[in-house]
Amino acid sequence: MKIAIDGPAASGKGTLAKRLAAHYGYHHLDTGILYRAVAQALLGAGAELTNEARAVAAAQALDPARFDDPALKSQATGDAASVVSAIPAVREALTAFQRDFAARPPGAVLDGRDIGTVICPDAEVKIFVVADPAVRARRRTLEARARGEAADETAVLADILRRDERDRSRATAPLQRAADALLLDNTHLDIEGGVRAAIAIVEAARAGRSRV
Ligand code: DC
Repeated sequence: MKIAIDGPAASGKGTLAKRLAAHYGYHHLDTGILYRAVAQALLGAGAELTNEARAVAAAQALDPARFDDPALKSQATGDAASVVSAIPAVREALTAFQRDFAARPPGAVLDGRDIGTVICPDAEVKIFVVADPAVRARRRTLEARARGEAADETAVLADILRRDERDRSRATAPLQRAADALLLDNTHLDIEGGVRAAIAIVEAARAGRSRV
């Protein structure tokens, strides 16, 4: 079983995906980490984020053992990730890793921007998570502060809106809802409410499949 969870930055899709995976005993991949790791490699080497050759080399040399580096979670790395993720050759270099992960038994939950549309168009369940930008900014600010980072909510909101625009308007694999994805509006749900709604969607999909 493959479950695709897409949505904009700070929509809550990451937590939802992690909790869904735990609920079903599936593997979970936060695919944003791949783009963040590429961005961090370029920033660390002092290379331009638009340097395609360096970015592709970094994508090919990714070390999954370093995906839990807390530095990858920073706001600056997320913004840089949005820039490198617009390079089609970078996306291509990361595709096989994501598809292999998605095929791991007994199932996998992947969250990102293009999972339901490009990486796993065959996913049995696709959920597109949205939430009001102001609510996302509030949540992201609190998360950053909990990590000990200084965060200004107005600046976080501006970053979210800029990132949404860049992720939606890029030519390759833009952020968009797959035609067969169900919309989950997380604006007024807390974590438990979101998880319950997502489980209900998965259960409905499973029931539908077992009827045919
Ligand atoms: O979900 P995130 O904030 O960790 O993602 C960081 C950036 O990576 C995001 O702004 C766009 C890019 N990304 C992508 O293009 N495709 C994905 N599947 C996941 C992330």
